[in-house]
Amino acid sequence: MAELPDWLPKWDLLSGPRYLVLADAITISVGNGVLRPGDKLPAQRDLARLLQVNVSTITRGYGEVMRRGLASASAGGGTRIIARQQEDAPRSLASVKFGGLVDLSHNFPPTAPCTGAVEAHADLTRVSGLEIRRLLSTQVDVGLPQHRAAGAEWLTRLGLPCSGTDVIVTSGGQHGLLLCIGALSRPGDTIMTEELCFYGLRSAAAMLGRPLTGVRMDREGLVPDYLDAVCSRTGAKLLFCSPTLHNPTGAVMPLQRRIDILRVCEHHGVTIVEDDVYRYLLDDAPPAFAALAPERTIYVTSVSKIIGPAWRIGYLCAPPSMRNQLGVALRASTLMSCSISAEIVSRFIQEGVVEAAEREVRKETMARQALVAKVFSPSEAARHPSGFHVWLKLGPHWTQDAFVSAAEARGIAVAPGSLFEAGLLVDNHSVRLCVNAAQSQSVLLRCLRELKSLVHERPATKLIA
Ligand SMILES: Cc1ncc(COP(=O)(O)O)c(C=O)c1O
Repeated sequence: MAELPDWLPKWDLLSGPRYLVLADAITISVGNGVLRPGDKLPAQRDLARLLQVNVSTITRGYGEVMRRGLASASAGGGTRIIARQQEDAPRSLASVKFGGLVDLSHNFPPTAPCTGAVEAHADLTRVSGLEIRRLLSTQVDVGLPQHRAAGAEWLTRLGLPCSGTDVIVTSGGQHGLLLCIGALSRPGDTIMTEELCFYGLRSAAAMLGRPLTGVRMDREGLVPDYLDAVCSRTGAKLLFCSPTLHNPTGAVMPLQRRIDILRVCEHHGVTIVEDDVYRYLLDDAPPAFAALAPERTIYVTSVSKIIGPAWRIGYLCAPPSMRNQLGVALRASTLMSCSISAEIVSRFIQEGVVEAAEREVRKETMARQALVAKVFSPSEAARHPSGFHVWLKLGPHWTQDAFVSAAEARGIAVAPGSLFEAGLLVDNHSVRLCVNAAQSQSVLLRCLRELKSLVHERPATKLIA
């Protein structure tokens, strides 16, 4: 057989209806950038001859790709890949209609219940006691020594023993991810991550021109064999992952899986960026990659999910060899993080405010997840009993967009699953809910019941063929 196109490796080894194998191979290749908008697919007769199948199989396969919105055909022009329909980021909150809408699509609406922990435990009037002159006049990109030390104290308590010199103060977790992309890769470099990932990573990678490639996941997170295959195929050297309470699925990677993933990373010389913003929600979280392999891991976290996102304070813990690059990236993005915020958060860490808030958020989250368990069975929703999110599966009768609109018409905002796709996924019929976003447990329960009945209804319009 003549050589197969790049986007169709292992044709003989793939099982299933041939036209679907073809359509899936094209979909995956559009998702990971091997096929780009404008690329022309081979003439149907040529491909049929090459693959030793009927032309009608190719016609059906191309038809399926067009149905998925990834290609178009023109008379005389053949079949070409068109720009991906996938959005790079969630819609701006500027377009959200407030008033009556319960917004479960983001973690923190304006009056989130869990941020009350700060009011209960901190005396914010002491802010006036800050040494404001000193804070206003000193600029160090990686953060002031006392703020780095407070960050290290917190990370050490979470199971990552480190000192202030290991730590860089960032303007939140999203900023940490952005710095890692900027410092550790160049435009055009492929970055690997879970096939479903936090949409903030997607928008940052898109903005900086780094194609994301999704690695297959199972219930335990990244699958080592697939990671190995993606490393071999792409030569990528940077892996972003959230092994502890993965957003959006809630998966927690057990220790043995972490060891297996590390082995693959060592073999291919891959650096890991570990996004661990949800670790504090678990009492018994397995050790972080950054604890198991500190020399190849940058640890990213923030206090946003504990005391609120508005502080805009997070921490990176990085090996010495990478600190300079990260400091340069930090300078290039914000010069430094806000020292006044960092000072207040340092006090919250040292005076036990953060620890008390952790306990409170954990308790509230578990109570809310118990409500989810009452309404949705494990086969209807992927989630962790201590996690922030619910990955709600829709039947194939719903498109994500139709479901999101129908839910919104009932006063509930949910995030479409496509926002979380690192590359285009075949048959991702899911939406994400944030349990802590409802104003109270009773509002959450009402929304969950409403969504449950909606999942089982038929959409009013737009049935999938
Ligand atoms: C997995 C993950 N990483 C990072 C972030 C960003 O956190 P921050 O608010 O600190 O920027 C989020 C926020 O939702 C998240 O879910």
